[in-house]
Amino acid sequence: MPIVAVVGMQWGDEGKGKIVDYLSLNADMIIRCQGGANAGHTVVNRGKKCVFHQIPSGILHPGTKCVIGQGVVIDPKKLGDEITRLVCDHGVKDIENRLFISPRAHVTLRHHTLLDEGREGYRYLGTTKSGIGPTYSDKVKRHGIRMGDFNFRNPYELKTKLEIALNENNVLLDWYGQPKVEVEDQLRVCFNHAAALGSLIDEDLDTKIHCSVTNDRLVILEGAQGSLLDIDVGTYPYVTSSNTTTAGLCMGSGIPPTRINKVIGVTKVYTTRVGEGSFPTELHDETAAYIQERGNEFGSITGRKRRCGWLELTSLRNSVWHNGVTELSLTKLDVLDELPTLRICRGFYQDGSPLLQTIPGWQTSTAGCTSYKELPGNAKKYIETIEEGLQCPVTMISTGQGRHDLITKEARNDLCVY
Ligand code: IMP
Ligand code: MG
Repeated sequence: MPIVAVVGMQWGDEGKGKIVDYLSLNADMIIRCQGGANAGHTVVNRGKKCVFHQIPSGILHPGTKCVIGQGVVIDPKKLGDEITRLVCDHGVKDIENRLFISPRAHVTLRHHTLLDEGREGYRYLGTTKSGIGPTYSDKVKRHGIRMGDFNFRNPYELKTKLEIALNENNVLLDWYGQPKVEVEDQLRVCFNHAAALGSLIDEDLDTKIHCSVTNDRLVILEGAQGSLLDIDVGTYPYVTSSNTTTAGLCMGSGIPPTRINKVIGVTKVYTTRVGEGSFPTELHDETAAYIQERGNEFGSITGRKRRCGWLELTSLRNSVWHNGVTELSLTKLDVLDELPTLRICRGFYQDGSPLLQTIPGWQTSTAGCTSYKELPGNAKKYIETIEEGLQCPVTMISTGQGRHDLITKEARNDLCVY
């Protein structure tokens, strides 16, 4: 059984949750590796929408083990709320025996969200204001608080760590005009978090992951955000603060790169972006409004309207390369069903404007298609243009929100994978 990484190839929101949900049916373990409460992975489970932020979407499948890995930054309050929602609204059982948190994962606390908000006022990047950047900053500055610090073998140790982190961060908070955070208050909050989540922190997680990998079980690494938001290869500075590409999933899970067998790159059949930053194929016309509405393109954390535009192959080719993508999953094909004419950006002119190929639309509903051959001819042409443009085989096509609105396709073996 392979070790499969599922990565976003655009600016997030590609529909990774749905692909992970599909694969999880046969999985032993699903690992979230990076990012934090900025993510929103939507799965429609028996007609009921379920949005995951920090827990792997595989938890919906009984019997799977779900891991929040060492590279994730955890907001404990929001994680507690998410667990409650899963148990109460979606009937997820046995969470305490199926969800494992890495003691190395860093914790997002109040000062991080206050800093994120304050910094957005000073220098606007369009973040989700979830405290992600400041938590990763503290990690790199080596004064972060980790989930393992909630084990309280020595409570004074945590107090000292909080003092070090807050002394410095309170100066910044003051500078941004934000309220300061008191050590004693935070210590109390941490005690509450420890009481709520302490039993899920697994000191032996490395061994569990090692066992799943070496016993030939299906292990899925669930990426969050997308390659164009990667801190190194993304559209810096308008990026998130983690490595969202396959290498980041290795770091965030502790699974070595040589163990990854398959990398599934997920992309919508058009492009969206939330927040600031370049977007060369962005549309501002009625087509954008149509895609935005038909695709329900609203940010799942902030509710902001997502910017919409045509698919763009140059950056997708880079994503195939940086992630080592071995197969493609295309999502939201049905959103384009009614458009008379479609465009795909094949490259750029010297002045930076996009070179657009026009492809006729199919203007037929793709809902309910269960096999590739049932798809309208022009939809197949559109898909093949993507496959050939990226030199990478498409193996999954999503045609709707539901779990079963997914077509699987034999991989074309004439396409060279990078
Ligand atoms: P941050 O991750 O909250 O710091 O936000 C940095 C940038 O990444 C902003 O443009 C966000 O809109 C974007 N971003 C972060 N997480 C997601 C996501 O899960 N989907 C889409 N965009 C995201
Ligand atoms: Mg999302």
